[in-house]
Amino acid sequence: MDTEKTQLLSVGKAATYLGLTPTTLRRWNKTGTFKATFVSPGQHLYYSIADLEKKSKGLVQSAFDWTSANGPYTPPSDWYCPTSDVFKARLERMAKELLESPLDRSAIYLIASAVGEIGNNSYDHNLGNWPDILGAFFSYDLGKKTIVLGDRGVGILATLKQIKPGLSTHREALKVAFTEVLTGRAPEHRGNGLKYAQKALKQAHAQLDFQSGDACLKLLKNKTKLQIKIADAPIRGCFAVIHY
Ligand SMILES: Nc1ncnc2c1ncn2[C@@H]1O[C@H](COP(=O)(O)OP(=O)(O)O)[C@@H](O)[C@H]1O
Ligand SMILES: [Mg+2]
Repeated sequence: MDTEKTQLLSVGKAATYLGLTPTTLRRWNKTGTFKATFVSPGQHLYYSIADLEKKSKGLVQSAFDWTSANGPYTPPSDWYCPTSDVFKARLERMAKELLESPLDRSAIYLIASAVGEIGNNSYDHNLGNWPDILGAFFSYDLGKKTIVLGDRGVGILATLKQIKPGLSTHREALKVAFTEVLTGRAPEHRGNGLKYAQKALKQAHAQLDFQSGDACLKLLKNKTKLQIKIADAPIRGCFAVIHY
């Protein structure tokens, strides 16, 4: 990394950089939404230009860049869950932080369990079969009410083809994954995770964008119908954005 990007800015300068107030940055540092790069012994917060750039680019773009990149790279450690244990621990932390927000408890439970289903799939369906980097990108911005998940696994078409060899497009596979109770995880039979996630998010009045390969599915707030379209750019594994 070049030295300019490792240079540290005070909380005031960092706030100006992001177009926010220092109070917001201090709060975000406390809640974990966006941690300072360095905290001095006197509790002064400092931010590196690299971290500020990442923040201004936005979580969704960072996650998308990671899942769609041709060359693999490890995402920033705060957003990278190499194992499902790390994912589960961060999911619990997210639920705890959400409980401190004004959102009602039942919506928090529904959102957290839907995130659990989507995230667990990344590990369950790619175990021992990761094309390059294992694990998942998982992050959230409670200020923007956005949760992002992604993996660089084999994607839904490849795993569902094992039990439905007739499937030939990502679009068909995505539809099957979200509407039929069946599982690419033989010999275990469960296959209800994404159907549940869809229902839970709907009940919580949340919106879901889910992409696998070159197909993306949209579940709009307060709408039952799923829209499945061809995406602007293809990705490796699966990518999900939840807005609540
Ligand atoms: N991240 C993922 N990577 C690869 N395949 C996936 C992923 N998420 C879902 N799938 C596929 O979609 C199917 C349906 O998922 P789900 O409804 O959660 O059922 P289950 O996980 O119990 O099999 C899975 O069986 C799998 O074939
Ligand atoms: Mg599942």
